[in-house]
Amino acid sequence: MTQPDSIAPHGGHLINRIATPEQHAEFLDKADFLPRVKLEARAVSDLELIAIGGFSPLTGFMHEADYNGVVNDMHLSNGLPWSIPITLPVSEEVAAPLKEGSLIRLDNPYGTFVGVLQLTQKYRYDKRHEALLVYRTNEEKHPGVSVVYKQGAVNLAGDVWLLERNPHTLFPTYQIDPLESRSLFRGKGWKSIVGFQTRNPIHRAHEYIIKCALEIVDGLFLHPLVGATKEDDIPADVRMNCYEIMLEHYFPKDRVILAINPAAMRYAGPREAIFHALVRKNYGCTHFIVGRDHAGVGDYYGTYDAQYIFDEFEPGELGITPMKFEHAFYCLRTQSMATTKTSPSTRDERIHLSGTKVRELLRKGELPPPEFSRPEVAAELARAMQAPEISYEI
Ligand code: ADX
Repeated sequence: MTQPDSIAPHGGHLINRIATPEQHAEFLDKADFLPRVKLEARAVSDLELIAIGGFSPLTGFMHEADYNGVVNDMHLSNGLPWSIPITLPVSEEVAAPLKEGSLIRLDNPYGTFVGVLQLTQKYRYDKRHEALLVYRTNEEKHPGVSVVYKQGAVNLAGDVWLLERNPHTLFPTYQIDPLESRSLFRGKGWKSIVGFQTRNPIHRAHEYIIKCALEIVDGLFLHPLVGATKEDDIPADVRMNCYEIMLEHYFPKDRVILAINPAAMRYAGPREAIFHALVRKNYGCTHFIVGRDHAGVGDYYGTYDAQYIFDEFEPGELGITPMKFEHAFYCLRTQSMATTKTSPSTRDERIHLSGTKVRELLRKGELPPPEFSRPEVAAELARAMQAPEISYEI
């Protein structure tokens, strides 16, 4: 493939909002005198991604003009595409005493001083409108909408500095920032790199679409999301074990880089697919995989809505190329993974195993069949399911 040596970050350059040692010392001196805002888990992830450049060109939480542009039209006020609001909502009570122009101390949910906001604007916003346009539903049971409805009524906007990284203690070797992933790609001589977003344990359909993409591009950036997910999603540490197992047994290691994406999941389907692609562009990917019902939940989105939305942008406007895949299944006729594009099978010859069915099997103490999961991955899921310290339902 002919591609430029390295893809430009969104907006042209990689943002760095990590406080310098001097700024860090200065902010620590002021810490006790600054008004405080406690961040929710999602805002902690957003702060980190802004600071490391994953959300370039954003330098802070969105002002009203950007917010309105993004919600209504999927563009920032400077004209760049952006599909998900990145905001810092607080209650009216918290917002009232905060003065525009002042510095605000940002604490994580445990009270640790993690960042600073230069507050330049406070504004109210319409939650129902945001839900309908971004999530395409105003139903409270949608996990993304439910977060919007529960959050504060006033958005705080302004540039940020990050003081303390979120400690990704379980995955230190996989904490790779955009600057580093770009340098790794260059070091490997990769000119075309496909990013893969996932929030689920890797299964055969994932493996199939990833490998189809790998037949075309130079390298794979396997980038599972490890920020906040809904309660019944499989925890990130179990998923990471599954990815490691897959790389160990089923992938050529020199063609894959595994790294964590610290973002929180929104479950915004099509809008989130655009957002996921732009974030991976910032990490240096030239291509991005969008399969069936990307970032979807329940039946809120059509199977391929997250692919169609890419057509709403001008050619080249996003600056990253989607690689779109049909719904993949195990085909009994061809004895292989396939889609309707490549297999003449009839419906009853296709094994579509859902996550729900797999959970049912695991609960009964049965392993998911090899048509759905590689046996080593199935064994890891079964182990996690039975581990006494695990209290979630997978
Ligand atoms: S997501 O919320 O991160 O999209 P998931 O981890 O299940 O969830 O999916 C990761 C990527 O694989 C997405 O692009 C999704 O569309 C794709 N995908 C998952 N299952 C299939 C499948 N059976 N066929 C085709 N694509 C799939």
